[in-house]
Amino acid sequence: MAARHFLTLNDMTTSELEQLLDHASRLRKEWHAGKTRDSLKNRVLAMIFEKSSTRTRVSFEAGMTQLGGTAMFLSPRDTQLGRGEPIEDSAIVISSMVDAVMIRTFAHETVERFASASSKPVINALTDEFHPCQLLADMQTYREHRGSIRGATVAWIGDGNNMCHSYINAAAQFDFHLNVACPEGYEPDSNLLKAHSDRVTVVRTPEDAAKGANLLVTDVWASMGQEDEQKARERAFQDYQINPALMSVAAKDALFMHCLPAHRGEEISADMMEHPGSVVWHEAENRLHAQKALLEFLILNRLD
Ligand code: CP
Ligand code: NVA
Repeated sequence: MAARHFLTLNDMTTSELEQLLDHASRLRKEWHAGKTRDSLKNRVLAMIFEKSSTRTRVSFEAGMTQLGGTAMFLSPRDTQLGRGEPIEDSAIVISSMVDAVMIRTFAHETVERFASASSKPVINALTDEFHPCQLLADMQTYREHRGSIRGATVAWIGDGNNMCHSYINAAAQFDFHLNVACPEGYEPDSNLLKAHSDRVTVVRTPEDAAKGANLLVTDVWASMGQEDEQKARERAFQDYQINPALMSVAAKDALFMHCLPAHRGEEISADMMEHPGSVVWHEAENRLHAQKALLEFLILNRLD
């Protein structure tokens, strides 16, 4: 049987995603109750990082250990991947020795090529185009605070980047409406927008996006790999900040999320992390639980 991969949210059905999130919430409760679990005993996850990470690395590594397995950190600097060994050759070899592979890289095509040659499940842990693991944690967090997100309005404030693209996929999979507020020239991918024009509205002002919204989300103005554009982006995005004034035009009980790392004074005001609607720490912790559920799904084909 061909391996299941998780390169975007579209690699799972809505029903699978919902079961996975239920399972992730159960794992969260068990973890907090001090219950141990060894479902992935003797299993190995290879983690290839071509970009920096705190949350993704710690959550995958801790998650594998907590489930009885191990995770192996591989950087291009120390492997032959960084010296030009073809991606497909690396995929054949690595996947012949481990149970799953997680990759954080630049071009989305890299994870697609790796997956096409891999005999084991491949997980996209962020590319320039998508960040589906973060969406698992975000959707789990919303459900844990507010129940189903079906029919809700979500406001994305800022860059039409990898996170925004995954929010567009999530809007389709979880049945909510996404308002995207971004400056001209920083819109999400036009093909993705076209494919989901019934679910996504692009507006110019954060207020138009946030009005009545149930969830406000943002991300850094300059993503990894865009360091040279920092100054130009600071100018373009200066009016695109989530702050208490913007929260006040949203629904009364609106939540605030950010995948982190956050830049206080840029995409959020200094006081947003502690705003009553902020669930950012819960969201960050859920990376652990959502990915443990994902690992069990991909490696063991189980969702409970
Ligand atoms: N949100 C997220 O993916 O964080 P890291 O870059 O620290 O992994
Ligand atoms: N858009 C950000 C997300 C970081 C988790 C980046 O790609 O750097």
